[in-house]
Amino acid sequence: MKKKSLFSKMVATYTIIITISFVILAAFLSFWFQGYYFEEREKQLSSEAQLVANSAVQYLYGEISLSEINDVLIHTSKYTSSDIMLSDNYGYVYAASSPKHKKIIGTQLLTEDLKELRMGKAIKKKDIFNNIFSVPVHIYEVPVFYRGIFQGTVFISTNMNEIKEPLNRVYVIIWISAILAIVLSSIVIYYFSQKIIVSPLAKINNVADKISKGEVGKRVDINSNDEIGELANSFNSMADSLEQVEENRRTFISNVSHELRSPITSIKGFIGGILDGIIPKEKEKYYLSVTYEEIQRLTRLINDLLDLSAIEAGKFTLNLQKYDINEIVRLSIIKFEAIIKSKKLNVNIWLDDDDVFVLVDRDKIIQVLTNLIDNAIKYVSDGGNIEITTKAKGQKVFVSIYNDGASIPQDEVNQIWERFYKSDKSRTSKISTGLGLSIVRRIIVQHGEEVWVENVDKKGVKFIFTLKVAEK
Ligand SMILES: Nc1ncnc2c1ncn2[C@@H]1O[C@H](COP(=O)(O)OP(=O)(O)OP(=O)(O)O)[C@@H](O)[C@H]1O
Ligand SMILES: [Mg+2]
Repeated sequence: MKKKSLFSKMVATYTIIITISFVILAAFLSFWFQGYYFEEREKQLSSEAQLVANSAVQYLYGEISLSEINDVLIHTSKYTSSDIMLSDNYGYVYAASSPKHKKIIGTQLLTEDLKELRMGKAIKKKDIFNNIFSVPVHIYEVPVFYRGIFQGTVFISTNMNEIKEPLNRVYVIIWISAILAIVLSSIVIYYFSQKIIVSPLAKINNVADKISKGEVGKRVDINSNDEIGELANSFNSMADSLEQVEENRRTFISNVSHELRSPITSIKGFIGGILDGIIPKEKEKYYLSVTYEEIQRLTRLINDLLDLSAIEAGKFTLNLQKYDINEIVRLSIIKFEAIIKSKKLNVNIWLDDDDVFVLVDRDKIIQVLTNLIDNAIKYVSDGGNIEITTKAKGQKVFVSIYNDGASIPQDEVNQIWERFYKSDKSRTSKISTGLGLSIVRRIIVQHGEEVWVENVDKKGVKFIFTLKVAEK
């Protein structure tokens, strides 16, 4: 419905504009042509009048006969579609072109105009002329002079309706062309707005509809080089990211199910074995402890997932306060004392000399450090080195966690931050879900800061993140 109204609005607007322009143009043309036509007519009449005046002088001096002068009048009258009369110097008519006017021959036509005519002025007027004509006519009165003496007058009268005939024909041509132009351009507008705007929009609309109904693979196929083409491109890239989101959602669900299934299967197996008596009494305790570990792993996984989804949903508002970053580092490392000892690791901590206060959510940053230290301990070989540093630089504090061991392949550097990403599945221990780093990144991004990884000299990995220094 909407799409139709946009279309008709556009066509209506353009048609109105074009109609107005053509009407103005046609009116202007008609007006101009009328002026031009009358001007030309006047020129023609004035030169014809001069010819008739010459013949009149010839007649008055006896050089041609009355019938000859009459012939001249009739001929000229036909040629110019007008009536012609001649009067003498007192205004008495002595010749007329039209048989209808023969009866006024011998009567005096002019009284008041004679004065001006004697002075050599031609007169133009619109009149019924002493009731000679039934309708008002255009009359052109031209004085006849010979050797400086006023000899009479030539009257040329034209019926407006007759001379307007050709003019009307021209009007008709102008207006018909205008209407044709309007109709043609409306058709062109209709066609192009359909082709350029309406049908591409309909296409996009159609695809949007299909995508919203679940066909996320659908794309718009428009290759025009204009704004509509741009819209189609943006639309397609939006559809791409929608498809990506959908894809992510699917893999996420399958990952979660997979991660949940393996511990549950083993728990089920062990407890089933104990209940059935397949597992010998003396081994029960061992299997129960394995089961307990699996349950701990499940709990951790579920906690991680809940954390992640809460952060992603923006449910966590950060509780930002001033804390000493060195204090946070110390707190985080303490928890790993036992495992550090058992793996015989060599841990160095280089803290910035001064107390550096940062504006952070303490629990969240502890979680970040815990995840990073956990990784360092997990991926370092027994007896290896771990180094933790804090360093203030301007408004930022840089915290780094280094462990020696295999570096991360370049093509994995970006992927390790993704949920459930675990490189080299055989190497990673069982206690691994691939959620740690994605939680780290979410927390740091939520703080408005950055975290990245660097490979150090091909024999170690360093994770670095920044924090804001709190104002004193
Ligand atoms: N210090 C490190 N040295 C080498 N590889 C690392 C290091 N830290 C992380 N990685 C790589 O990045 C991957 C993702 O790490 P992440 O912490 O997200 O998951 P995880 O440690 O495998 O599991 P989780 O932390 O959820 O128990 C790891 O599987 C590992 O391949
Ligand atoms: Mg981890």
